[in-house]
Amino acid sequence: MDLIMTFESTPYPRRLLLSPLTPADLESVFKVFSDPDTWQHLPVGRHKTREESRTIVDASMSSRREHKIGQWAVRVADQGADAALAAGTFLGTGGVNMTPALVWNLGYRLSPAAWGRGFATEIALAAVAGARIHNDSVPITARVLSNNPASARVAVRAGLRKIWEGPTTTGAAAGLSREIFSDPDLGHDALSRLIEAG
Ligand SMILES: CC(C)(COP(=O)(O)OP(=O)(O)OC[C@H]1O[C@@H](n2cnc3c(N)ncnc32)[C@H](O)[C@@H]1OP(=O)(O)O)[C@@H](O)C(=O)NCCC(=O)NCCS
Repeated sequence: MDLIMTFESTPYPRRLLLSPLTPADLESVFKVFSDPDTWQHLPVGRHKTREESRTIVDASMSSRREHKIGQWAVRVADQGADAALAAGTFLGTGGVNMTPALVWNLGYRLSPAAWGRGFATEIALAAVAGARIHNDSVPITARVLSNNPASARVAVRAGLRKIWEGPTTTGAAAGLSREIFSDPDLGHDALSRLIEAG
């Protein structure tokens, strides 16, 4: 496994393996992204086909190819693993991708069995550190539905600040309230592009 990030640089123990998403992860990604429990805040977003999950893998690979880092496959490490989660278990995806608005986008989606253990925070801290290493001049952002306080909390724990909240007018989340987090603050054009992204 191509391990690219460990947690020596964070205050966290090394509980997770973060590796580049590859086509070999497709079935595992689909399992998590087709689980209705991982879409409680946006049920319409649940993946019904593997092609939808392939876009997650492709976006990560493209970000990694062009910007050195993309969202990771997240697995339980064989060191310090929680007794309830076997070493090597695929937990989901998380990390940063570069976006067309030329800002990093921080995201995470984990299997419910993994929730509530600080894993998303651990991933987010590693991702912020990684993004800074690869391009420190680009803001790190997160787009979170207002009905998802756990996700917002992870963004804040990763050092991002809420810079906008308002209605989503386009896309699958149209009609729902959205929050945008960033560090540092975004310029007007970049913020407008993120708002328009729905
Ligand atoms: C959001 C998600 C990634 C969080 O993963 P996690 O590993 O459980 O997160 P962590 O344990 O690192 O941190 C969660 C934080 O939110 C807090 N939290 C959890 N539920 C909360 C709630 N209902 N209201 C407020 N805070 C809440 C926790 O207390 C914790 O904060 P703390 O560390 O300061 O105590 C996970 O629930 C998930 O994958 N959900 C489905 C997909 C999703 O919603 N992804 C985000 C899309 S933007």
